[in-house]
Amino acid sequence: MSTSDDNAKQISPEAAGDDAAASSSEIKNKEQGNGFGGPVTLFFILGFAVSLILGWVIAPEMLYSQKKQPIDYNHALHVAEVGDGCESCHFFRADGTFSGVPKLELCVDCHEEVQGEDPNEIKFVEEYVVKEREVPWLIYSKQPDCVFFSHAAHIKGAQMDCVTCHGHIGESETSRVYEENRITGYSRDIWGKNIAGFKKNSWDRMKMDDCAECHQKEFTVQRTDVKTPINRLLDNFIAVSFPGMEAPAGIGDSVQTQRDACFVCHK
Ligand code: HEC
Ligand code: HEC
Ligand code: HEC
Ligand code: HEC
Ligand code: HEC
Repeated sequence: MSTSDDNAKQISPEAAGDDAAASSSEIKNKEQGNGFGGPVTLFFILGFAVSLILGWVIAPEMLYSQKKQPIDYNHALHVAEVGDGCESCHFFRADGTFSGVPKLELCVDCHEEVQGEDPNEIKFVEEYVVKEREVPWLIYSKQPDCVFFSHAAHIKGAQMDCVTCHGHIGESETSRVYEENRITGYSRDIWGKNIAGFKKNSWDRMKMDDCAECHQKEFTVQRTDVKTPINRLLDNFIAVSFPGMEAPAGIGDSVQTQRDACFVCHK
């Protein structure tokens, strides 16, 4: 800003000899002092605002594509309808594996026919139940294929709450949109809502570093042996059969710095 002001002062004597119109405008500039500074400042502020909006609002919007769940699903309504809470639909099988999102067979008892007037229910019954097609639900927390994750270890073993990792999906009345990173294909629940990386709640993000927030403290040396798939099955089986059995206390190292430790969470 001061540069443009200086320029104005330097040019004005020459300009005065050449062109009357120009000189009068230079004189005006001199009188106003900041004649160029004002617009330049404004231009700078506008440009700054535009780039902020581009970087913080438009770029993230462009980075993520939005997909709707095939059917809008009301968790709150269903949790009240079923007998066993979350476990009615998200349960552990005897071998320790987790059912995940329920299959159609769990819904047909109540939805063989349309019960109410809800357009979502009608769509669900007509498009899926009658045609015996599984609903292609989008998984918000889907990890890349190279990651091994065990619900049994966390829920039965470490007695953790669903909310810690998933937030309040279990109490929600509608399915929120699923956002997919166009470049990596990751769900936004993995990479986080906030591109600056701020994290308010434990469920805001589920990247490797977020697993490590717990795993560096609680999840220690004894458990970092590389497991064969059979051992992993056995671990899940034990966790489900003897819930609450804590892991043996470790020596306190970070899993991620141990030799082979990567293969605790990676396949
Ligand atoms: C009647 C069956 C049923 C019950 C009971 C139920 N859910 Fe669900 N749940 C579903 C279906 C269907 C989906 C897939 C649709 C969706 O994501 O909204 C789902 C999805 C989820 C997801 C999303 C997983 C992901 O990453 O996409 C979470 C988390 C979840 N349920 C937690 C809970 C919790 C916590 C409870 C108990 C408070 C619960 N559910 C009770 C049927 C059920
Ligand atoms: C215990 C019985 C029961 C089970 C099991 C059940 N539902 Fe429902 N569901 C209901 C009732 C009751 C309603 C409310 C009916 C109405 O008024 O439309 C409902 C409503 C719905 C609706 C419309 C409201 C909404 O959520 O947007 C959808 C869609 C639906 N159910 C899907 C499912 C799916 C998918 C499953 C299997 C994972 C399932 N239901 C399992 C009893 C059940
Ligand atoms: C320690 C964190 C953690 C806790 C606690 C947790 N989950 Fe998950 N959940 C995950 C992760 C990570 C995935 C993705 C797994 C993958 O993609 O391999 C997931 C996936 C799911 C899915 C989708 C599975 C599928 O692909 O069909 C459902 C449904 C779900 N969780 C429900 C629950 C419920 C219900 C609870 C509580 C009983 C719970 N979770 C507790 C981290 C957690
Ligand atoms: C809130 C804390 C917490 C978070 C977040 C968490 N974990 Fe865990 N995890 C634990 C605890 C506690 C155990 C049980 C320790 C044990 O059994 O040794 C465990 C156990 C495991 C096991 C079982 C290891 C075995 O040998 O049986 C795996 C694998 C695992 N976690 C992977 C993950 C991954 C992948 C993530 C991120 C998506 C994650 N965890 C997020 C606390 C957490
Ligand atoms: C506590 C569990 C855990 C441990 C231990 C761990 N990872 Fe990961 N890692 C994850 C999860 C969850 C993801 C997926 C989310 C992400 O990209 O941050 C991931 C993603 C990655 C990716 C990116 C893969 C992709 O497809 O985007 C690389 C590379 C990776 N890990 C390398 C390592 C190495 C090397 C080690 C050992 C030093 C290691 N990880 C140990 C949980 C773990």
